Amino acid sequence: MKIAIVTGGSNGIGKAAALELGRRGISVILTYNSYKDRAEAVVKEIEKNKGVRAVALKLDLTERSTFDSFAQMIKLSLKEIWDRTTFDYLVNNGGVGGPCSISEMSEEYFDKVMNTNYKGTIFLTKQLTPFIVDGGSIVNMTSSSKSQSFPGYSVYGSLKAALSVWTRYAAKEFAPRKIRVNAVSPGPTHTNFGDGVMDKHPEFLKPLAEQTAFGRIGSPDDLGKVIANLLSDDFGWVTAQDIEVSGGHLL
Ligand SMILES: NC(=O)c1ccc[n+]([C@@H]2O[C@H](COP(=O)([O-])OP(=O)(O)OC[C@H]3O[C@@H](n4cnc5c(N)ncnc54)[C@H](OP(=O)(O)O)[C@@H]3O)[C@@H](O)[C@H]2O)c1
Repeated sequence: MKIAIVTGGSNGIGKAAALELGRRGISVILTYNSYKDRAEAVVKEIEKNKGVRAVALKLDLTERSTFDSFAQMIKLSLKEIWDRTTFDYLVNNGGVGGPCSISEMSEEYFDKVMNTNYKGTIFLTKQLTPFIVDGGSIVNMTSSSKSQSFPGYSVYGSLKAALSVWTRYAAKEFAPRKIRVNAVSPGPTHTNFGDGVMDKHPEFLKPLAEQTAFGRIGSPDDLGKVIANLLSDDFGWVTAQDIEVSGGHLL
């Protein structure tokens, strides 16, 4: 039985990835930051798959001082639920965003995006890789915004670009353990991202859809399937790649 850890599995793309992994017979440790109830609903859904177990743990990627105790909780869950000391897959998905122009940007905004999407993701990976099996796999969530320049996404996009570069370095450093490290760059995807900016501004949806080759915005499931496939052995010869999953955004 394979085991995956999915950060930010309580919502959006992380939830879709966790559900898809469950459908493929993979057990899941998913994390939430604010919404324990949503995370527990995902756990229940995953456990409808025969023989598959799931558990939800609290993780705030901005609170690095809690990573030691988070790792202890992981060790405990692995032992108690699966009688294991290792897991197979890590999906670094948890993240925040939302537009903010350079002229209006506060240090607080910068630190929040930086500490969640970049620093937190990197230090969590450092903390957890000792427990990933040799031959395991990591997927980092970057963003198509890393190669675009929509006003308001300068910090978000540049930090996702940094995470994309970091993915390559991590792939090299973990290669001796045959751990593959890749990234997925979603294009516009209909989730609660940016405090529900897409639902608050439905007028953005049509123009965004028209920017994609396939004429629609991505769904969380579009991403969940790619993440599950990329983690799997079918992609065993693929490492250090960042794959855009956007239906051809701005093609
Ligand atoms: N949606 C898009 O268009 C899009 C495009 C490009 C890239 N992405 C990337 O895809 C990933 C998932 O985004 P999404 O669209 O699915 O957004 P979402 O629906 O807002 O979900 C974000 C997830 O991250 C968790 N999270 C938020 N702050 C956190 C923190 N401080 N520590 C740990 N976890 C935290 C949330 O947990 P709680 O809900 O429990 O607080 C939630 O589970 C992100 O990395 C995002 O940058 C999204």
